[in-house]
Amino acid sequence: MSKPVKQIHLAAHFPGVNNTTVWSDPAAGSHIDFASFKHFAQTAERAKFDFFFLAEGLRLREQGGQIYDLDVVGRPDTFTVLSALAAVTDRIGLTGTINSTFNEPYEVARQFASLDHLSEGRAAWNVVTSWDAFTGENFRRGGYLAEEDRYDRAQTFLRTAWELFDSWDGYRIEADKESGVFLSDPKAGTFEHRDRHFDIAGRFNVPTSPQERPVIFQAGDSDGGREFAAAASDAIFGRHSQLEPGKAFYADVKGRLAKYGRTHEDLLILPAATFVLGDTDAEAAELAVEVRRAQVSGQTAIKFLEQLWNRDLSAYDPDGPLPEIDPDVSGDSISKGRAADRMYRDRIAAAREYREEAEAKGLSIRELMIEKTSRQSFIGSAETVATQIDELVQADAADGFILVPHITPGGFDVFADTVVPILQERGRFRTEYEGTTLREHLGLAKPRKTPSVAVGSAAAAPAAVSAGTEAVAAGAGR
Ligand SMILES: Cc1cc2nc3c(=O)[nH]c(=O)nc-3n(C[C@H](O)[C@H](O)[C@H](O)COP(=O)(O)O)c2cc1C
Repeated sequence: MSKPVKQIHLAAHFPGVNNTTVWSDPAAGSHIDFASFKHFAQTAERAKFDFFFLAEGLRLREQGGQIYDLDVVGRPDTFTVLSALAAVTDRIGLTGTINSTFNEPYEVARQFASLDHLSEGRAAWNVVTSWDAFTGENFRRGGYLAEEDRYDRAQTFLRTAWELFDSWDGYRIEADKESGVFLSDPKAGTFEHRDRHFDIAGRFNVPTSPQERPVIFQAGDSDGGREFAAAASDAIFGRHSQLEPGKAFYADVKGRLAKYGRTHEDLLILPAATFVLGDTDAEAAELAVEVRRAQVSGQTAIKFLEQLWNRDLSAYDPDGPLPEIDPDVSGDSISKGRAADRMYRDRIAAAREYREEAEAKGLSIRELMIEKTSRQSFIGSAETVATQIDELVQADAADGFILVPHITPGGFDVFADTVVPILQERGRFRTEYEGTTLREHLGLAKPRKTPSVAVGSAAAAPAAVSAGTEAVAAGAGR
Protein backbone atom coordinates (compact mmCIF):
# COMPACT_ATOMS: atom_id res chain seq x y z
CA MET A 1 0.00 0.00 0.00
CA SER A 2 1.39 3.40 -0.88
CA LYS A 3 2.02 5.90 1.89
CA PRO A 4 -0.77 8.47 2.29
CA VAL A 5 0.08 12.00 1.18
CA LYS A 6 0.70 14.22 4.18
CA GLN A 7 -0.77 17.68 4.60
CA ILE A 8 1.84 20.31 5.36
CA HIS A 9 1.74 22.50 8.46
CA LEU A 10 3.17 26.00 8.23
CA ALA A 11 3.83 28.62 10.87
CA ALA A 12 5.12 32.18 10.83
CA HIS A 13 7.96 32.93 13.22
CA PHE A 14 8.27 36.64 14.02
CA PRO A 15 12.05 37.02 14.13
CA GLY A 16 13.69 37.51 17.47
CA VAL A 17 17.04 38.51 18.78
CA ASN A 18 19.52 37.16 16.29
CA ASN A 19 21.17 38.08 13.05
CA THR A 20 18.65 36.25 10.82
CA THR A 21 16.72 39.48 10.50
CA VAL A 22 18.26 42.00 8.15
CA TRP A 23 17.02 45.13 9.87
CA SER A 24 19.17 47.30 7.61
CA ASP A 25 17.28 46.22 4.48
CA PRO A 26 15.29 49.13 2.99
CA ALA A 27 12.13 46.98 3.21
CA ALA A 28 12.56 46.21 6.93
CA GLY A 29 10.36 47.87 9.55
CA SER A 30 10.05 48.06 13.31
CA HIS A 31 10.29 45.03 15.58
CA ILE A 32 8.40 46.74 18.37
CA ASP A 33 5.52 48.59 16.72
CA PHE A 34 2.25 46.74 16.94
CA ALA A 35 1.70 47.48 13.25
CA SER A 36 4.57 45.09 12.44
CA PHE A 37 3.15 42.23 14.52
CA LYS A 38 -0.27 42.85 13.04
CA HIS A 39 0.92 42.86 9.44
CA PHE A 40 2.98 39.71 10.01
CA ALA A 41 0.18 37.77 11.72
CA GLN A 42 -2.53 38.92 9.33
CA THR A 43 -0.43 37.94 6.30
CA ALA A 44 0.12 34.50 7.80
CA GLU A 45 -3.59 34.18 8.47
CA ARG A 46 -4.42 35.24 4.92
CA ALA A 47 -2.11 32.42 3.82
CA LYS A 48 -4.01 30.01 6.15
CA PHE A 49 -0.93 29.24 8.21
CA ASP A 50 -1.45 27.09 11.28
CA PHE A 51 0.02 29.55 13.73
CA PHE A 52 2.02 32.65 14.50
CA PHE A 53 5.12 31.95 16.63
CA LEU A 54 7.13 33.97 19.11
CA ALA A 55 10.44 32.75 20.48
CA GLU A 56 11.66 34.19 23.76
CA GLY A 57 14.82 35.99 24.80
CA LEU A 58 14.79 37.22 28.33
CA ARG A 59 17.89 39.37 28.26
CA LEU A 60 19.76 41.39 25.66
CA ARG A 61 22.78 39.39 24.65
CA GLU A 62 26.16 41.03 24.68
CA GLN A 63 29.83 40.52 24.14
CA GLY A 64 32.61 42.57 25.65
CA GLY A 65 29.93 44.84 27.11
CA GLN A 66 28.39 45.57 23.70
CA ILE A 67 25.01 44.53 22.38
CA TYR A 68 25.25 42.54 19.14
CA ASP A 69 24.61 45.12 16.46
CA LEU A 70 23.00 42.73 14.01
CA ASP A 71 20.64 41.40 16.66
CA VAL A 72 17.28 43.02 16.64
CA VAL A 73 17.49 44.71 19.99
CA GLY A 74 14.49 44.56 22.27
CA ARG A 75 11.60 42.21 22.51
CA PRO A 76 8.18 43.02 23.95
CA ASP A 77 6.41 40.65 26.33
CA THR A 78 4.95 37.53 24.72
CA PHE A 79 1.51 37.49 26.38
CA THR A 80 0.94 41.17 25.71
CA VAL A 81 1.74 40.74 22.02
CA LEU A 82 -0.28 37.54 21.58
CA SER A 83 -3.31 38.96 23.37
CA ALA A 84 -3.24 42.04 21.17
CA LEU A 85 -2.97 39.81 18.08
CA ALA A 86 -5.94 37.74 19.25
CA ALA A 87 -8.04 40.85 18.74
CA VAL A 88 -6.95 41.47 15.14
CA THR A 89 -6.97 37.86 13.89
CA ASP A 90 -9.70 35.20 13.87
CA ARG A 91 -8.31 31.80 13.12
CA ILE A 92 -4.54 31.64 13.23
CA GLY A 93 -2.98 29.93 16.27
CA LEU A 94 -0.91 32.02 18.69
CA THR A 95 2.16 30.27 20.06
CA GLY A 96 4.31 31.78 22.79
CA THR A 97 7.62 30.53 24.12
CA ILE A 98 7.62 30.59 27.90
CA ASN A 99 10.36 29.35 30.11
CA SER A 100 9.80 26.78 32.86
CA THR A 101 12.94 27.65 34.79
CA PHE A 102 12.25 31.21 35.90
CA ASN A 103 8.43 31.23 36.06
CA GLU A 104 5.78 29.69 38.31
CA PRO A 105 3.07 27.27 37.10
CA TYR A 106 0.12 29.19 38.49
CA GLU A 107 1.02 32.42 36.67
CA VAL A 108 1.85 30.71 33.41
CA ALA A 109 -1.25 28.48 33.44
CA ARG A 110 -3.41 31.50 34.15
CA GLN A 111 -1.86 33.46 31.29
CA PHE A 112 -2.25 30.64 28.77
CA ALA A 113 -5.79 29.80 29.87
CA SER A 114 -6.66 33.48 29.53
CA LEU A 115 -5.08 33.66 26.07
CA ASP A 116 -7.01 30.56 25.05
CA HIS A 117 -10.24 32.23 26.18
CA LEU A 118 -9.50 35.58 24.54
CA SER A 119 -8.49 33.92 21.26
CA GLU A 120 -11.32 31.36 21.38
CA GLY A 121 -9.05 28.33 21.38
CA ARG A 122 -5.89 29.38 19.58
CA ALA A 123 -3.24 29.34 22.31
CA ALA A 124 -0.06 27.24 22.33
CA TRP A 125 2.85 27.13 24.74
CA ASN A 126 6.39 26.38 23.62
CA VAL A 127 7.98 25.09 26.82
CA VAL A 128 11.67 25.96 26.99
CA THR A 129 14.07 25.52 29.86
CA SER A 130 16.82 28.00 28.93
CA TRP A 131 20.33 27.20 29.98
CA ASP A 132 22.35 30.17 30.99
CA ALA A 133 22.98 31.86 34.28
CA PHE A 134 23.42 35.13 32.38
CA THR A 135 19.69 35.13 31.58
CA GLY A 136 18.98 33.89 35.08
CA GLU A 137 20.57 36.98 36.61
CA ASN A 138 17.43 38.86 35.58
CA PHE A 139 15.36 36.74 37.92
CA ARG A 140 15.00 36.09 41.59
CA ARG A 141 16.15 32.51 41.15
CA GLY A 142 19.18 33.43 39.10
CA GLY A 143 20.85 30.71 37.10
CA TYR A 144 20.45 28.23 39.88
CA LEU A 145 19.29 25.21 37.91
CA ALA A 146 21.84 22.58 36.98
CA GLU A 147 21.50 21.13 33.50
CA GLU A 148 20.14 17.85 34.84
CA ASP A 149 17.47 19.61 36.90
CA ARG A 150 16.01 21.77 34.16
CA TYR A 151 13.88 19.09 32.53
CA ASP A 152 12.96 17.66 35.90
CA ARG A 153 11.47 21.03 36.76
CA ALA A 154 10.00 21.48 33.25
CA GLN A 155 8.26 18.14 33.45
CA THR A 156 6.68 18.77 36.83
CA PHE A 157 5.98 22.40 35.87
CA LEU A 158 3.96 21.21 32.90
CA ARG A 159 2.20 18.54 34.92
CA THR A 160 1.25 21.15 37.52
CA ALA A 161 -0.02 23.50 34.82
CA TRP A 162 -2.14 20.66 33.42
CA GLU A 163 -3.65 20.13 36.85
CA LEU A 164 -4.57 23.80 36.93
CA PHE A 165 -6.05 23.74 33.43
CA ASP A 166 -8.04 20.66 34.43
CA SER A 167 -9.13 21.98 37.80
CA TRP A 168 -12.43 23.19 36.36
CA ASP A 169 -13.19 19.90 34.60
CA GLY A 170 -16.82 19.01 35.10
CA TYR A 171 -17.62 22.35 36.74
CA ARG A 172 -19.62 24.98 34.98
CA ILE A 173 -20.48 28.60 35.43
CA GLU A 174 -24.29 28.40 35.68
CA ALA A 175 -24.90 32.11 36.28
CA ASP A 176 -28.55 31.24 36.76
CA LYS A 177 -30.24 34.55 37.45
CA GLU A 178 -33.49 32.91 38.59
CA SER A 179 -32.00 30.65 41.23
CA GLY A 180 -29.02 32.84 42.02
CA VAL A 181 -26.64 29.91 41.46
CA PHE A 182 -23.38 30.99 39.87
CA LEU A 183 -21.17 27.88 39.99
CA SER A 184 -22.37 24.34 39.36
CA ASP A 185 -20.22 23.14 42.24
CA PRO A 186 -18.34 25.06 44.92
CA LYS A 187 -15.24 22.89 44.39
CA ALA A 188 -14.47 24.42 40.98
CA GLY A 189 -10.83 25.25 40.51
CA THR A 190 -9.47 23.54 43.62
CA PHE A 191 -5.98 22.11 43.29
CA GLU A 192 -3.14 20.83 45.37
CA HIS A 193 0.31 19.97 44.11
CA ARG A 194 3.29 19.11 46.25
CA ASP A 195 6.62 17.86 45.01
CA ARG A 196 10.31 18.74 45.04
CA HIS A 197 9.77 21.88 42.95
CA PHE A 198 6.28 23.10 43.82
CA ASP A 199 4.28 23.15 47.00
CA ILE A 200 1.04 24.86 46.10
CA ALA A 201 -2.66 24.50 46.84
CA GLY A 202 -5.62 26.74 46.27
CA ARG A 203 -8.08 27.75 43.59
CA PHE A 204 -7.38 28.29 39.96
CA ASN A 205 -9.31 31.32 38.79
CA VAL A 206 -9.73 30.73 35.06
CA PRO A 207 -12.51 28.34 34.02
CA THR A 208 -11.82 25.65 31.40
CA SER A 209 -10.80 27.31 28.13
CA PRO A 210 -11.91 26.29 24.63
CA GLN A 211 -8.96 23.94 24.00
CA GLU A 212 -9.05 22.78 27.65
CA ARG A 213 -5.26 22.92 27.60
CA PRO A 214 -3.11 24.98 25.22
CA VAL A 215 -1.24 23.03 22.56
CA ILE A 216 2.19 22.16 23.97
CA PHE A 217 5.43 22.66 22.03
CA GLN A 218 8.93 21.75 23.09
CA ALA A 219 12.25 23.13 21.85
CA GLY A 220 15.49 21.55 22.97
CA ASP A 221 17.63 18.92 21.37
CA SER A 222 19.26 16.95 24.17
CA ASP A 223 18.20 13.45 25.10
CA GLY A 224 16.29 14.89 28.04
CA GLY A 225 14.58 17.39 25.76
CA ARG A 226 13.56 14.72 23.27
CA GLU A 227 12.21 12.49 26.02
CA PHE A 228 10.21 15.37 27.46
CA ALA A 229 8.74 16.05 24.03
CA ALA A 230 7.86 12.41 23.41
CA ALA A 231 6.15 12.13 26.77
CA ALA A 232 4.28 15.37 26.94
CA SER A 233 4.30 17.70 23.96
CA ASP A 234 2.06 18.00 20.91
CA ALA A 235 4.77 19.43 18.67
CA ILE A 236 8.52 20.05 18.58
CA PHE A 237 10.07 23.28 17.41
CA GLY A 238 13.23 21.68 16.08
CA ARG A 239 16.48 22.69 14.49
CA HIS A 240 16.88 19.97 11.83
CA SER A 241 15.51 21.33 8.59
CA GLN A 242 17.72 19.35 6.17
CA LEU A 243 16.71 15.99 4.70
CA GLU A 244 19.02 13.50 6.41
CA PRO A 245 19.35 15.12 9.86
CA GLY A 246 15.62 15.82 9.72
CA LYS A 247 14.77 12.19 8.99
CA ALA A 248 17.07 10.97 11.76
CA PHE A 249 15.56 13.37 14.30
CA TYR A 250 12.02 12.57 13.18
CA ALA A 251 12.55 8.82 13.48
CA ASP A 252 14.28 9.24 16.83
CA VAL A 253 11.56 11.24 18.58
CA LYS A 254 8.62 9.46 16.96
CA GLY A 255 10.28 6.19 18.01
CA ARG A 256 10.12 7.31 21.64
CA LEU A 257 6.33 7.81 21.63
CA ALA A 258 5.17 4.22 22.05
CA LYS A 259 6.56 3.87 25.55
CA TYR A 260 4.30 6.72 26.62
CA GLY A 261 1.25 5.08 25.03
CA ARG A 262 1.30 7.64 22.21
CA THR A 263 1.15 7.27 18.43
CA HIS A 264 2.98 9.01 15.56
CA GLU A 265 0.01 11.33 15.05
CA ASP A 266 0.24 12.65 18.61
CA LEU A 267 3.46 14.60 18.01
CA LEU A 268 4.28 16.93 15.12
CA ILE A 269 7.85 17.76 14.13
CA LEU A 270 8.10 21.37 12.95
CA PRO A 271 11.68 22.55 12.43
CA ALA A 272 12.62 26.20 12.14
CA ALA A 273 13.42 27.05 8.53
CA THR A 274 14.27 30.07 6.40
CA PHE A 275 13.56 30.79 2.75
CA VAL A 276 14.78 33.05 -0.04
CA LEU A 277 12.47 33.48 -3.00
CA GLY A 278 13.22 34.79 -6.50
CA ASP A 279 11.44 34.87 -9.84
CA THR A 280 13.83 32.15 -10.97
CA ASP A 281 16.07 29.71 -9.13
CA ALA A 282 19.13 31.62 -10.34
CA GLU A 283 17.78 34.93 -9.08
CA ALA A 284 16.95 33.39 -5.70
CA ALA A 285 20.44 31.88 -5.44
CA GLU A 286 21.97 35.29 -6.12
CA LEU A 287 19.72 36.95 -3.56
CA ALA A 288 20.53 34.23 -1.03
CA VAL A 289 24.22 35.12 -1.24
CA GLU A 290 23.39 38.79 -0.64
CA VAL A 291 21.17 37.93 2.33
CA ARG A 292 23.88 35.76 3.87
CA ARG A 293 26.40 38.57 3.55
CA ALA A 294 23.94 41.01 5.11
CA GLN A 295 23.33 38.58 7.98
CA VAL A 296 27.04 38.14 8.65
CA SER A 297 28.76 41.51 8.37
CA GLY A 298 32.50 41.72 8.98
CA GLN A 299 31.85 42.81 12.54
CA THR A 300 29.37 39.98 13.11
CA ALA A 301 31.87 37.46 11.72
CA ILE A 302 34.46 38.65 14.25
CA LYS A 303 31.86 38.47 17.06
CA PHE A 304 30.98 34.91 16.07
CA LEU A 305 34.63 33.95 15.99
CA GLU A 306 35.18 35.55 19.40
CA GLN A 307 32.48 33.25 20.78
CA LEU A 308 34.67 30.30 19.90
CA TRP A 309 38.05 31.90 20.56
CA ASN A 310 36.74 33.41 23.80
CA ARG A 311 39.00 36.44 23.39
CA ASP A 312 38.92 39.91 21.85
CA LEU A 313 39.63 39.55 18.11
CA SER A 314 38.62 43.07 17.11
CA ALA A 315 42.11 43.74 15.73
CA TYR A 316 41.68 41.00 13.11
CA ASP A 317 40.59 41.75 9.55
CA PRO A 318 37.34 39.88 8.77
CA ASP A 319 38.50 39.58 5.17
CA GLY A 320 41.80 38.03 6.28
CA PRO A 321 42.83 34.59 7.57
CA LEU A 322 41.83 33.02 10.88
CA PRO A 323 43.88 33.83 14.01
CA GLU A 324 47.04 31.80 14.65
CA ILE A 325 46.55 32.28 18.36
CA ASP A 326 44.55 29.59 20.19
CA PRO A 327 41.23 30.15 22.02
CA ASP A 328 41.35 31.24 25.65
CA VAL A 329 40.13 28.33 27.73
CA SER A 330 41.25 29.76 31.06
CA GLY A 331 38.29 31.89 32.06
CA ASP A 332 34.58 32.60 31.82
CA SER A 333 32.93 32.88 28.44
CA ILE A 334 32.91 36.38 26.95
CA SER A 335 29.74 35.57 25.06
CA LYS A 336 26.78 36.36 27.26
CA GLY A 337 23.54 34.57 26.49
CA ARG A 338 24.68 32.68 23.41
CA ALA A 339 24.70 28.92 23.01
CA ALA A 340 28.43 29.04 22.18
CA ASP A 341 29.49 27.59 25.51
CA ARG A 342 27.46 24.48 24.90
CA MET A 343 28.37 24.28 21.23
CA TYR A 344 32.12 24.40 21.75
CA ARG A 345 32.93 21.84 24.39
CA ASP A 346 36.54 21.67 23.15
CA ARG A 347 37.47 25.13 21.89
CA ILE A 348 41.04 24.23 20.89
CA ALA A 349 39.91 21.32 18.71
CA ALA A 350 37.06 23.38 17.20
CA ALA A 351 39.46 26.23 16.36
CA ARG A 352 41.83 23.77 14.69
CA GLU A 353 38.98 22.44 12.55
CA TYR A 354 37.94 25.97 11.60
CA ARG A 355 41.50 26.86 10.55
CA GLU A 356 41.85 23.65 8.53
CA GLU A 357 38.55 24.21 6.75
CA ALA A 358 39.33 27.86 5.98
CA GLU A 359 42.75 26.92 4.61
CA ALA A 360 41.44 24.03 2.54
CA LYS A 361 38.68 26.14 0.96
CA GLY A 362 40.64 29.40 0.83
CA LEU A 363 38.10 31.26 3.02
CA SER A 364 38.48 34.48 4.98
CA ILE A 365 37.08 34.84 8.50
CA ARG A 366 33.87 36.35 7.16
CA GLU A 367 33.47 33.77 4.41
CA LEU A 368 33.99 30.92 6.84
CA MET A 369 31.53 32.36 9.35
CA ILE A 370 28.95 32.78 6.59
CA GLU A 371 29.37 29.09 5.80
CA LYS A 372 29.27 28.04 9.44
CA THR A 373 26.31 30.10 10.55
CA SER A 374 24.23 30.26 7.39
CA ARG A 375 20.66 29.19 8.07
CA GLN A 376 19.07 29.21 4.64
CA SER A 377 16.79 26.20 4.22
CA PHE A 378 14.74 26.81 1.07
CA ILE A 379 16.10 28.80 -1.87
CA GLY A 380 14.49 29.14 -5.29
CA SER A 381 11.47 30.17 -7.28
CA ALA A 382 8.07 29.71 -5.64
CA GLU A 383 7.69 26.45 -7.54
CA THR A 384 11.04 25.15 -6.32
CA VAL A 385 10.48 26.20 -2.71
CA ALA A 386 7.03 24.58 -2.69
CA THR A 387 8.58 21.37 -3.99
CA GLN A 388 11.45 21.46 -1.48
CA ILE A 389 9.05 21.91 1.45
CA ASP A 390 6.75 19.17 0.22
CA GLU A 391 9.57 16.71 -0.40
CA LEU A 392 10.90 17.06 3.13
CA VAL A 393 7.45 16.57 4.61
CA GLN A 394 6.60 13.56 2.46
CA ALA A 395 10.03 12.02 3.26
CA ASP A 396 9.24 12.26 7.00
CA ALA A 397 11.99 14.74 7.70
CA ALA A 398 9.27 17.01 9.16
CA ASP A 399 5.51 17.50 9.39
CA GLY A 400 5.84 21.11 8.35
CA PHE A 401 7.95 24.16 9.12
CA ILE A 402 8.09 27.17 11.36
CA LEU A 403 9.32 29.69 8.81
CA VAL A 404 11.47 32.68 9.69
CA PRO A 405 11.77 35.36 7.01
CA HIS A 406 14.75 37.72 6.96
CA ILE A 407 12.52 40.78 6.57
CA THR A 408 10.06 42.04 9.16
CA PRO A 409 7.17 42.67 8.80
CA GLY A 410 6.75 42.00 5.05
CA GLY A 411 8.72 38.75 4.84
CA PHE A 412 5.70 36.58 4.10
CA ASP A 413 3.96 38.81 1.57
CA VAL A 414 5.45 37.13 -1.50
CA PHE A 415 5.41 33.67 0.09
CA ALA A 416 1.68 34.01 0.79
CA ASP A 417 0.98 35.08 -2.79
CA THR A 418 3.19 32.60 -4.60
CA VAL A 419 4.30 29.50 -2.63
CA VAL A 420 1.08 28.90 -0.72
CA PRO A 421 -1.18 28.81 -3.84
CA ILE A 422 1.15 26.22 -5.40
CA LEU A 423 0.97 24.01 -2.32
CA GLN A 424 -2.80 24.46 -2.31
CA GLU A 425 -3.11 23.54 -6.01
CA ARG A 426 -1.10 20.42 -5.32
CA GLY A 427 -3.50 19.49 -2.53
CA ARG A 428 -0.82 19.69 0.14
CA PHE A 429 -2.05 22.70 2.09
CA ARG A 430 -5.48 23.90 3.24
CA THR A 431 -7.37 26.48 1.21
CA GLU A 432 -9.59 27.33 4.19
CA TYR A 433 -9.38 26.76 7.90
CA GLU A 434 -11.63 23.82 8.68
CA GLY A 435 -11.72 24.14 12.44
CA THR A 436 -11.62 27.08 14.77
CA THR A 437 -8.99 25.98 17.30
CA LEU A 438 -5.26 25.52 16.83
CA ARG A 439 -5.58 21.92 17.97
CA GLU A 440 -7.94 21.39 15.02
CA HIS A 441 -5.62 23.12 12.54
CA LEU A 442 -2.83 20.79 13.64
CA GLY A 443 -5.05 17.70 13.49
CA LEU A 444 -4.38 16.91 17.13
CA ALA A 445 -6.75 14.94 19.33
CA LYS A 446 -8.21 16.49 22.45
CA PRO A 447 -5.92 16.29 25.49
CA ARG A 448 -5.87 12.86 27.09
CA LYS A 449 -6.67 13.22 30.73
CA THR A 450 -6.97 9.65 31.89
CA PRO A 451 -4.22 8.61 34.27
CA SER A 452 -1.43 6.92 32.42
CA VAL A 453 1.95 5.44 33.19
CA ALA A 454 4.63 7.53 34.80
CA VAL A 455 8.07 6.45 33.68
CA GLY A 456 11.73 7.01 34.41
CA SER A 457 12.59 9.49 37.11
CA ALA A 458 9.01 10.74 37.23
CA ALA A 459 7.83 7.38 38.55
CA ALA A 460 9.75 8.03 41.72
CA ALA A 461 8.52 11.58 42.04
CA PRO A 462 5.65 12.32 44.43
CA ALA A 463 2.35 11.83 42.66
CA ALA A 464 0.27 14.80 41.66
CA VAL A 465 -2.67 15.16 43.98
CA SER A 466 -5.49 16.78 42.09
CA ALA A 467 -7.99 14.76 40.13
CA GLY A 468 -8.00 14.36 36.37
CA THR A 469 -4.24 14.69 36.05
CA GLU A 470 -2.48 13.00 33.23
CA ALA A 471 0.41 11.31 34.90
CA VAL A 472 2.44 10.91 31.74
CA ALA A 473 5.78 12.32 32.67
CA ALA A 474 9.16 12.24 31.09
CA GLY A 475 12.07 10.29 32.44
CA ALA A 476 13.94 13.33 31.34
CA GLY A 477 16.84 15.48 32.26
CA ARG A 478 19.62 12.93 32.10
C1 LIG B 1 14.96 25.16 17.76
C2 LIG B 1 15.14 25.66 19.15
C3 LIG B 1 14.57 26.86 19.53
C4 LIG B 1 14.71 27.37 20.82
N1 LIG B 1 14.12 28.53 21.14
C5 LIG B 1 14.28 29.04 22.37
C6 LIG B 1 13.70 30.28 22.74
O1 LIG B 1 13.04 30.92 21.96
N2 LIG B 1 13.92 30.75 23.99
C7 LIG B 1 14.67 30.07 24.91
O2 LIG B 1 14.83 30.54 26.03
N3 LIG B 1 15.23 28.89 24.58
C8 LIG B 1 15.06 28.38 23.36
N4 LIG B 1 15.64 27.20 23.03
C9 LIG B 1 16.49 26.56 24.05
C10 LIG B 1 15.78 25.42 24.73
O3 LIG B 1 14.75 25.83 25.52
C11 LIG B 1 16.67 24.72 25.71
O4 LIG B 1 16.85 25.53 26.81
C12 LIG B 1 18.01 24.43 25.20
O5 LIG B 1 17.97 23.92 23.91
C13 LIG B 1 18.64 23.44 26.14
O6 LIG B 1 17.90 22.28 26.12
P1 LIG B 1 18.55 20.98 25.54
O7 LIG B 1 19.59 20.66 26.54
O8 LIG B 1 17.44 19.97 25.50
O9 LIG B 1 19.04 21.32 24.18
C14 LIG B 1 15.49 26.67 21.76
C15 LIG B 1 16.07 25.45 21.38
C16 LIG B 1 15.90 24.95 20.11
C17 LIG B 1 16.54 23.65 19.75
